[in-house]
Amino acid sequence: MPAFSSPAPGVQSANFRFRCIGCGDLSDSTSQDFRCAHCGDLLEITYPQWKKAKPNAETLKAAWSERRLSQIPVDLSGVWRFRDLLPALDPTLDEAQIITLREGNTPLYALPQSARSAGVSHLFAKHQGMNPTGSFKDCGMTVAATFALRAGFRWVACASTGNTSASMAAYAARGGMRSLVLVPEGKISWSKLSQALDYGAVTCQLRTDFDGCLRLLQELVRRAPVHQLNSINPFRLEGQKTLALELLEQLDWNPPDHIIVPGGNLGNSSAIGKAFVEMRELGLISRLPKLSVIQAEGANALVRTLRETGGQRLVSVQAETRATAIRIGNPASWKKAAHVLEATGGACEQVSEVEIAQAKAEIGAEGIGCEPASAVTLAGLKKLVKQKFVKPDESVVLVLTGNLLKDPDFTIEFHRGELFKGSADENASAVLDPLRRAPIVLDATLDAVIRTLEQAEKS
Ligand code: F0G
Repeated sequence: MPAFSSPAPGVQSANFRFRCIGCGDLSDSTSQDFRCAHCGDLLEITYPQWKKAKPNAETLKAAWSERRLSQIPVDLSGVWRFRDLLPALDPTLDEAQIITLREGNTPLYALPQSARSAGVSHLFAKHQGMNPTGSFKDCGMTVAATFALRAGFRWVACASTGNTSASMAAYAARGGMRSLVLVPEGKISWSKLSQALDYGAVTCQLRTDFDGCLRLLQELVRRAPVHQLNSINPFRLEGQKTLALELLEQLDWNPPDHIIVPGGNLGNSSAIGKAFVEMRELGLISRLPKLSVIQAEGANALVRTLRETGGQRLVSVQAETRATAIRIGNPASWKKAAHVLEATGGACEQVSEVEIAQAKAEIGAEGIGCEPASAVTLAGLKKLVKQKFVKPDESVVLVLTGNLLKDPDFTIEFHRGELFKGSADENASAVLDPLRRAPIVLDATLDAVIRTLEQAEKS
């Protein structure tokens, strides 16, 4: 079975090592489960040579800026453009072997209406839903899939609530690898499932939840020659770091006061936090934004872990939320995320189903749109403003993780007033009525359309 290890003698050695987040053990190679051989904790990628020869911040900024004018594939990628802070590719390897769909390069939008509704003056959205497969996963997948191909794997696999599988299937197909998807049956959106099918994955709908799928995958990688591309894979998190680099470049290297990220399996918040810590270490920024993580009330494992154990022990939950992307009760990267919250001084909050639906509609009404899991960020911001954790004059960036088109059922049910029918939230959801825009069925006559227009003008 192929393995990740340092290059053979004579070949320039890799620029990174694996470090265990539990016992700190450093190693040059890792087994298929990406866990420490000594204590079983998760691994992260570290760059020991930065201690000896720290990359110069101004040189880096100039190189990244210059690459924006280039037409070669590594520079057209919004991830590989920042390759100086990523695991190095084998120097003998042709750059054409990078699997890229020109990921990253995502817009930063001002959200003036949502800013007013939340009570802050400077609010922006970094929209990762504008990636090639419609979610932030592409930024990590380009790196992890490239390293999987380079290590000689034929099969890649993941457990997913939908977006990871869509992304993995696309990058595997581009790289000529086969892909195996494990998703919870009936608990992911059709649009994400359809992506995996279209990109040619072998797709298994398992009669369990996401946590059950991930458990099974962990066993599978020990038995079969498949390479896992979940966010336990530390190469994924290195790619996802570039969100923070690109954001800071867009802000002319002035860090915002707050960055707010949805929390599911907790890989993305860990990656973004790692990027900020590294950026400060390299002198690219002089202070850290506070990184806060928001979860759905029904999938609040990190919230409970911090409140009930002070971050010492994971409190797993039986997850339930209509924001299916984050319907996760046993998050793999909880320790990494807890560390990031501590390092940046961020908060961890939970929001209700009605608050998520309201925030999603407000982001949509700005002409931006996102999937439900992304909207927890705005809902969480409102809470953090009320708690005075975020001050009205502070700058805030919401990370919108997925595209509006990822979950059309949620949006249509919302506007038709069906989202909370028969649920415990039915009464509370009355506050959403002013935001609903149900489709109107009419006879195909000019009169009928004009009457509708006149009524809309009055409302
Ligand atoms: N937002 C979206 C749209 C997601 O798809 C996910 C995770 C998250 C937020 C949470 O990110 O897990 O890094 O904390 N989706 C995974 C998947 C689990 O399988 O697609 P996280």
